[in-house]
Amino acid sequence: MLSEKYSKVCRQEDLIEGIGNRFLINDIDIALFNIKGDIFALCNVCPHQHSALIYKGFIEDNCVICPVHGWKFNLKDGKMNNGGNGLNSYPIKIIDGNIYIKAEEKKTNW
Ligand code: FES
Repeated sequence: MLSEKYSKVCRQEDLIEGIGNRFLINDIDIALFNIKGDIFALCNVCPHQHSALIYKGFIEDNCVICPVHGWKFNLKDGKMNNGGNGLNSYPIKIIDGNIYIKAEEKKTNW
């Protein structure tokens, strides 16, 4: 049984492998990725200049690269390789092919 804090977002098969998607859940801007079947949910707003374009980022070495100036964030935890806080990440559950995200307001990392 899922806690109420998880919101149903989409079906797993709706996510094209390697292409990010953007969802607004509980007023939180989220970038969702399917990378070789693994699903990741990160804050969609880059801490550099607050561009809401992380979902359009390039995927490389288990990271997403902001398309604006190239800051790089780990898909698993949103952290930057240089130790910077980076992006918030959000827990995911997949039940019967449905993707649920626990999107709660967190203190922003910038
Ligand atoms: S806005 Fe993302 S790297 Fe500059």
